[in-house]
Amino acid sequence: MTPDLLEQGEQRLKARQEKVLRGKTESGGRAAGFSHLVTSGEVDVTHGRILYLEDVTVSFDGFKAINNLSLDIAPGELRCIIGPNGAGKTTMMDIITGKTRPDSGTVFFGSTIDLLRYTEPQIAQMGIGRKFQKPTVFEQLTVFENLELALKTDKGVKSSMFFRLDSGHSDRLAEVLHTIHLAGSVTRQAGNLSHGQKQWLEIGMLLMQDPKLLLLDEPVAGMTDEETARTAELFLTLKGKHSLMVVEHDMSFIKVISEIVTVLSEGSVLAQGTLEQVQNDERVIEVYLGR
Ligand SMILES: Nc1ncnc2c1ncn2[C@@H]1O[C@H](COP(=O)(O)OP(=O)(O)OP(=O)(O)O)[C@@H](O)[C@H]1O
Ligand SMILES: [Mg+2]
Repeated sequence: MTPDLLEQGEQRLKARQEKVLRGKTESGGRAAGFSHLVTSGEVDVTHGRILYLEDVTVSFDGFKAINNLSLDIAPGELRCIIGPNGAGKTTMMDIITGKTRPDSGTVFFGSTIDLLRYTEPQIAQMGIGRKFQKPTVFEQLTVFENLELALKTDKGVKSSMFFRLDSGHSDRLAEVLHTIHLAGSVTRQAGNLSHGQKQWLEIGMLLMQDPKLLLLDEPVAGMTDEETARTAELFLTLKGKHSLMVVEHDMSFIKVISEIVTVLSEGSVLAQGTLEQVQNDERVIEVYLGR
């Protein structure tokens, strides 16, 4: 591409970004033009659960990484999962998201959707967003472009070729930028962000698709104390609007965000309760927290 074309493209992008941000102040936010982006069916939570696992088992070469695991999560809940290395926390997320098939057991999203009948992309489409430990943003693109791209991969938008940002999308983008503390960095290249900011951007990309359930695997690993504190704030604002399952080893972080903490060990639930309760549980002290 010639430098001229590059420059033109850059100017167009800048104009578009400015328009989006102006749109936010002029349109009056979500109420003015918001339309649902994800048109997947409603999740039936009348039984008080958004996620339900019962007697789930999976073996790798005869080793039971998940062993008769039963667990459920209420709508809007922020559930923390802790436990020693190899306890099966990531494998549990692999099962919920369709990446790994269990040998036996039941996994339901709400009371009607049997997740074991669906593929990984279908499950994502239904409104289960997942964040892996390592940030996976597009380093060459700006913050804005990364969030825009997250919209394009939304199957509700028929073809990314003909994708145009409408006012509903713009409102959402501005709202997400604000939520993830990156409103002042829209034109920055993602590769130049700090580790923490990249993590927030990736969470923002998930939020663009308005997930009902968010699974976050060690979200504050490698963050500075300040970034960790801001992430705790962020999660507390997401709670209620979304259901969250957060796997973490950072106990000071868990202390700030937790309501119910589930301790996994050897593929099943060892203990569950408030952080204080599980911290005082002899079995938990034995296998995880130490004396
Ligand atoms: N695809 C796989 N093939 C073989 N073994 C696996 C596979 N996935 C996980 N395991 C094994 O299952 C066990 C549980 O691993 P998992 O990654 O779920 O633990 P974890 O609780 O997430 O640990 P950590 O806190 O270290 O992230 C480990 O012994 C791991 O080696
Ligand atoms: Mg893990």
